[in-house]
Amino acid sequence: MVRLLSVSTRGWNALPARCSQGLWRRARRGWNWVKEARHGNVETWADAFALGAFNHAASVDAATWERWRATLAYLGYDRPPSEMEGPPPSLARTESLHARLESLRRRVQLVFERDLQSLPARIDDTDPRCRAVLEWAADLADSATIAELGCGSGRMLRVLKRRFPHCKLLGLDVAAESLQQVDASMARIRGGMLRLPFTNDSFAAVFLVESLEHSLRPRQAVEEALRVLRPGGRILLIDKHRTWQARCIHEPWERWFTLEEVTDWLSLHAEVERAEFLPAGGRDVPAGLFCLWTATKRMAGLAHE
Ligand SMILES: C[S@@+](CC[C@H](N)C(=O)[O-])C[C@H]1O[C@@H](n2cnc3c(N)ncnc32)[C@H](O)[C@@H]1O
Repeated sequence: MVRLLSVSTRGWNALPARCSQGLWRRARRGWNWVKEARHGNVETWADAFALGAFNHAASVDAATWERWRATLAYLGYDRPPSEMEGPPPSLARTESLHARLESLRRRVQLVFERDLQSLPARIDDTDPRCRAVLEWAADLADSATIAELGCGSGRMLRVLKRRFPHCKLLGLDVAAESLQQVDASMARIRGGMLRLPFTNDSFAAVFLVESLEHSLRPRQAVEEALRVLRPGGRILLIDKHRTWQARCIHEPWERWFTLEEVTDWLSLHAEVERAEFLPAGGRDVPAGLFCLWTATKRMAGLAHE
């Protein structure tokens, strides 16, 4: 045992001397990525990877597709975030993954940046989505801290700021370009909704408007949103209904919802108050497309019946 250990230790110590400069640099980059992935947002990278996989699914052979699926499993994509801490992957493996994921992550960003051009930068107070958010926020304390997850250019946050100037607003989004459009008077945080960079019970209120549909693991995204909400805190979600998805053009990874499934996810940790369709309004909101859910996070220790 001792002998084995000493051999492997000598081997490791000798490594820098034996490595070419390039190999050593690559190994260091690989290690940095391991650190980044463990401290940052593995899920966002996995989202990027999955997106690339979806985009290419039709054009790759079965063996490549299997390799990609294995990579997703390797990244812990099919496991809840709490189980994702583990021994760091090998450097060689992470190095090649890094290159692949980095290019795919760029592609996701490009999609959202393109969306940014097509998504209106402002929303009218009379839009049913906006009315629902304002109504919901009217019940919150004047100085409540409200976070929007997947805030895009911050058009909802701007309306909230105008109507409730004393509340503290924070926008989180995965796309840096979008965040740059959010008013500098608000906190802006880059991150993914599956691993929010906030401690438990951070906010009095959290809302998501048309961002849950982009998460490939929406149930975990809802759980994560509830984690950062304090007990008694309020959550609002607005997203599109499943029955419309086949009829509409959408990104390949989008997943739209039924009223019941999101209600079930929320019910694990919150009392659901509303789960209903938004009324029609204007060109963008036809009847039956958008759903609204509101809920209040249960006090600690109160189990769901
Ligand atoms: C359709 S836009 C909606 C933006 C905003 N909520 C609004 O109503 O104007 C969806 C936003 O979700 C963000 N997004 C998508 N996936 C995300 C993720 N995993 N984590 C955080 N934000 C994400 C996108 O970058 C995009 O800005």
